[in-house]
Amino acid sequence: FAQKYHQSMQEVELKSVIKACQMDELTAEEQHLLQLAIEATNRSYSPYSKFSVGAAVRLGNGVELTGSNQENAAYPSGLCAERTVLFYAGAQYPDVPVTMLAIAARGTDGELTEEPTGPCGACRQVIVESETRAGHPIRILLYGRRHCYVIEGIRPLMPLCFSEF
Ligand code: THU
Repeated sequence: FAQKYHQSMQEVELKSVIKACQMDELTAEEQHLLQLAIEATNRSYSPYSKFSVGAAVRLGNGVELTGSNQENAAYPSGLCAERTVLFYAGAQYPDVPVTMLAIAARGTDGELTEEPTGPCGACRQVIVESETRAGHPIRILLYGRRHCYVIEGIRPLMPLCFSEF
């Protein structure tokens, strides 16, 4: 590595490939998990941002769990939907891997977003560690009314990420 780059500065392209599709192109299991994420948006507590996010995970034992963003008047005390459900999964089933994560969101107009909503940076970091714990990539499904995204593991969304393991 040092040998290759020590003489001249070079551009290094970091490439990510994800899939875009319609919801009906997904498996029944995937569609179901996205449906759970969509329903979870209705349990969001977001009086400040009025942006309702829902997340659902499927575990290796078939259990499905949901979470939503939970805000607080002391703003940073709130938590995103993705971390709410991933931490709940870790708290309830510490030894069961997460296999899939679905995310959906409603904008301030109350409608499901047209474009898929991606997880924030902090949630991406937590997903990295959920994959480390699982020992395999977690399939990520992002819902949008126009189209969905399917992402095979968090790495395409987290180039050069920090991971201790
Ligand atoms: N939010 C999530 O729940 N997940 C994300 O990945 C992005 C943001 C929440 C946090 C806050 O309650 C609201 O959306 C607006 O930022």
